[in-house]
Amino acid sequence: MQCVARKSLMASRHLRCASVWANVPLGPPDAILGVTEAFKRDTNPNKMNLGVGAYRDDSGKPYVLPSVRKAEQLLLARNLDKEYLPISGLASFTGASARLAFGGDSSVIKDGLNSTVQTISGTGALSIGAHFLKRFFPHSKKVFFPTPTWGNHGPIFKTAGLEVGSYRYYDAGTCGFDFAGACQDLEALDEHTVVVLHACAHNPTGVDPTPEQWKQLAEIVKKKNLFPFFDMAYQGFASGDATRDAFAVRYFTENNIPLILAQSYAKNMGLYGERAGAFTVISANPEEQKAVESQLKIIIRALYSNPPRNGVLIASELLNNEELRQQWLAELKGMADRIITMRTGLRDGLTKLGSARDWSHITNQIGMFCFTGLDAGQVERLIKEHSVYLTKDGRISIAGVSSTNVEYLAHAMHEVSK
Ligand SMILES: Cc1ncc(COP(=O)(O)O)c(C=O)c1O
Repeated sequence: MQCVARKSLMASRHLRCASVWANVPLGPPDAILGVTEAFKRDTNPNKMNLGVGAYRDDSGKPYVLPSVRKAEQLLLARNLDKEYLPISGLASFTGASARLAFGGDSSVIKDGLNSTVQTISGTGALSIGAHFLKRFFPHSKKVFFPTPTWGNHGPIFKTAGLEVGSYRYYDAGTCGFDFAGACQDLEALDEHTVVVLHACAHNPTGVDPTPEQWKQLAEIVKKKNLFPFFDMAYQGFASGDATRDAFAVRYFTENNIPLILAQSYAKNMGLYGERAGAFTVISANPEEQKAVESQLKIIIRALYSNPPRNGVLIASELLNNEELRQQWLAELKGMADRIITMRTGLRDGLTKLGSARDWSHITNQIGMFCFTGLDAGQVERLIKEHSVYLTKDGRISIAGVSSTNVEYLAHAMHEVSK
């Protein structure tokens, strides 16, 4: 009797709990995490996970940069406290971050026109930027992205209350940049529209404009008074040279185009889970700069009060300690070079196997990802028949390819694309 009563009490509690959230629909799983889950279940010893966007060394292992390890040792020896950082973050980090993006001799920095705040990596930078636009951008509340773009762009901006639209970017016919399509679409936008531009190593396609094309895009942006939001998640990771990868951001700034910028140190310092990033607004004069900075702090304060310490303490060492900076830049080049070597190995492997397809886009594209041009059926066969895991759009992470499995990958891609 007592037991029945307890059971019915528990059931009614259950019901009461369930009813509060009864209207919550089950959300779809994250597309990329789903790939990793399927990979984990596969027992094929040759299996490859090319879905995840994190660098692996040539033995397929996560890589902590030796410069990062050294910085950690230095920090440990300092016996630092755990006090809160200021709302806008660690000043030695934000200052150096702006110099890395815009160049140490940039006039906007010399004139103190940048408001740079520390953020929760690149995602946090985009999010703070989206909130700032929502509150203060005086024109349209619709932001335009390239097609395709990083899967999180839309959700970040929609969560901040903005609408999203798109402009042409990728040409499936050439597996390259649809320059004419992008120009036409940007020209057709209303004046004062926000456009998100991937500064380098476009995710997911690996397709970047050439410097000449960037100059022409800047012309359109200027003519139409478009407002660029640069997302620079891979500075140095594309070409191996942090200055070269900042070309677009610096060219636009030098040409007096007002812009905002999101930076991430996840890939170029391998600080993924440390969540080190920065967001910058360039203002027209010092009073405006002060007002902008004050509002950025108000947004941050309400969202998470102040940012975390550890990642930016490491990043600050790498950016400000000259010896560590040189070591970091060399290690960054090492990562980019390994990726470029794997691209060549994959393309050559496919050619050697007698593939009749043109695979030149594998080496023309840049950065962590390659848009293979394989269709949905071919992607499914790669997974099912060869245990090569990738996202449905045919994107592979070259960072997950190594000298020991590049031939296997070429063989698998050839088999499904014959
Ligand atoms: C284009 C782009 N922007 C921003 C990010 C942000 O990454 P994180 O928040 O890890 O710095 C990424 C990461 O994959 C990206 O590819």
